[in-house]
Amino acid sequence: MAEENGADFEQPASFAFDAESRAELDRHIAKYPTGKQASAVLPALYIVQRQMKRDTGSAWVPRAAMDEVARLLGMPPIRVYEVATFYTMFALRPIGTWHLQVCTTTPCWLRGSDDVTAACRKFTGIAGWGETSADGVFTMTEVECLGACVNAPVVQVNDDLYEDLDAERTTGLLEALKRGEPPKPGSMTGRQTSAPEGGPTTLTTLDNLGPPNPEPATPAE
Ligand code: FES
Repeated sequence: MAEENGADFEQPASFAFDAESRAELDRHIAKYPTGKQASAVLPALYIVQRQMKRDTGSAWVPRAAMDEVARLLGMPPIRVYEVATFYTMFALRPIGTWHLQVCTTTPCWLRGSDDVTAACRKFTGIAGWGETSADGVFTMTEVECLGACVNAPVVQVNDDLYEDLDAERTTGLLEALKRGEPPKPGSMTGRQTSAPEGGPTTLTTLDNLGPPNPEPATPAE
């Protein structure tokens, strides 16, 4: 495990699912046949992270929680650690209110993720990846493709995607987040989902579609 007790944070000695979390976890476990409860490990870790956000204001997964997930799902703890350390959506140390997960994979890079990264660094004062701003509001993480390349470049903030960013729009987004007023997720240029920039380029008129429902040919006598 990379994240042990450090100078700036402590691992809690124990973790217990509260009633809300336990009910949600039980719903996921019930989806799988007896003996296959380990399949619920990903939702279990999400549930831990959300409970930590409710309880502490920071969405992260302590080691004691991974051990509790292992116990409840009948898995060796190492298998839970393997999952939690593989996926970047699980934070293994306390993070800021807003987790800026900046995609720098090729499509986002070609569309300006360097500018987005620079704008995040300038606004937050964060110098390196995985660090939290001095005011505790932002954490910056570099992530691989978020599956929204069509609207690149993209930043995931907590669980939401903000798309079509540039330096200026990124700064505006961060200002809004700092005020506690997250904008509506999706394209930051206002385009509809992933429709072409500048509006539709096909099916703009019905003139050339031909007559509707042409009469079927009459079979020869
Ligand atoms: S490369 Fe950034 S979303 Fe796919």
